Amino acid sequence: MDRFKIEGGRRLEGTVQISGAKNAALPIMAAALLTSEKVHLDNVPRVRDIITMAKLLAHMKAHVVAQDLPPSAMTIQTEEISHTEAPYELVKTMRASVLTLGPLVARFGYARVSLPGGCAIGARPIDLHIQALEKMGAKINIDHGYVEARAERLLGAEIHFDKITVTGTENVLMAATLAEGETILTNSAREPEVTDLADLLIKMGAKIEGVGTSTIRIRGVPKLHGATHKVIPDRIEAGTFLIAGAITRGDILVTNCDPGHLGAIIDKLRECGVEIIPEGSGRLRVRVSGKLRGADVTTEEYPGFATDMQAQYLALATQAEGKSVITETIFENRFMHASEILRMGANIEVEGRKAIVHGPTPLSGATIIASDLRASASLVLAGLVASNTTYIDRVYHIDRGYERIESKLCALGARIERIG
Ligand code: UD1
Repeated sequence: MDRFKIEGGRRLEGTVQISGAKNAALPIMAAALLTSEKVHLDNVPRVRDIITMAKLLAHMKAHVVAQDLPPSAMTIQTEEISHTEAPYELVKTMRASVLTLGPLVARFGYARVSLPGGCAIGARPIDLHIQALEKMGAKINIDHGYVEARAERLLGAEIHFDKITVTGTENVLMAATLAEGETILTNSAREPEVTDLADLLIKMGAKIEGVGTSTIRIRGVPKLHGATHKVIPDRIEAGTFLIAGAITRGDILVTNCDPGHLGAIIDKLRECGVEIIPEGSGRLRVRVSGKLRGADVTTEEYPGFATDMQAQYLALATQAEGKSVITETIFENRFMHASEILRMGANIEVEGRKAIVHGPTPLSGATIIASDLRASASLVLAGLVASNTTYIDRVYHIDRGYERIESKLCALGARIERIG
């Protein structure tokens, strides 16, 4: 199993290019199931979750054509399908496989998708996806750990999400594009990844209004057609590199990002004393010349501070002066990284959904274990400032969502290597 070896204490300098957004590319790939024509995608990140989604589509006998593997450009065509099923083996490695449920039942009238089950960051049910599809007339049956959905044709409905759900909004949005009549989604997710998916669906002929707001109206059409789409930049990867610049007191130019998607992160980092300077379109310079100050943060749905940046921010807080209270409101049990960073010498108390960090504390290298995707990124950040050598086990988690993170960091002057 791969692990990272990091020699910490080096200031990062240089330019890093951000890849396409994994969480936008995944629903967009699933959306290709809605048409028999070709969907061409560009700026797809070369990460493991994308390969898993490509495997899942190929398992259904969709044609996924890519020049390289993992690809940055790909064409997906689903003329016919042989299995409308997402098997457990694939869903267990990637929860986002559930995004095939809506498109499959909308176009083929039947879908069988394994339930994702528990997950390292707390229980993550899909009850809201299921309730919405039922409201649209799907007959749902849960059997042997699988959700089976049937509908001759889905019907438009008024759907209020009791809780804001990103993939739930995406699943139902995709399903509604081919439903009969109008669907109105309220309390929908406003994440840029939902907007990117809607932009592709509109190019495919879907009738959608209210994109980017919490009320989305979709007028169903009988058929969608092919389209070409460039995936938006990954705001979480960009935020992670902004923190890499800040935590090492470096000077990094982050390119190919969308600063418009990074508002809450940029504001919080500035509150901590980090300088973030826009340098032309899609480029942000990050550097620190004075002291880093701690600041409280509460995770929220977009446009608030993303839960997917909480772990990385916690690593930064260990190097900032004073007390930072970090409150996680989206997921339970999302502080596994805290106990690992504690072992490196940080002063962190976890009380339920709050982590209280007192800084700054010098970190020293240790052998630590990555527990999930974003937790692994925070451990890498901690390793970059730790004295001596840090070994991080189970880095397969990081490969799910970061494209060549060790190469990108090495190019900025970090000493990090992947060892078998
Ligand atoms: C997506 C992102 C993930 C991010 C999360 C929150 C993808 C592939 N993943 O995950 O990186 O951390 O949004 O921004 O885009 N919930 C229910 N019932 C449901 C659905 C969700 O109770 O049917 C709850 C969840 O347990 C959680 C909250 O709603 O507490 C938000 O989850 P959700 O937005 O659905 O997360 P994902 O879409 O899985």
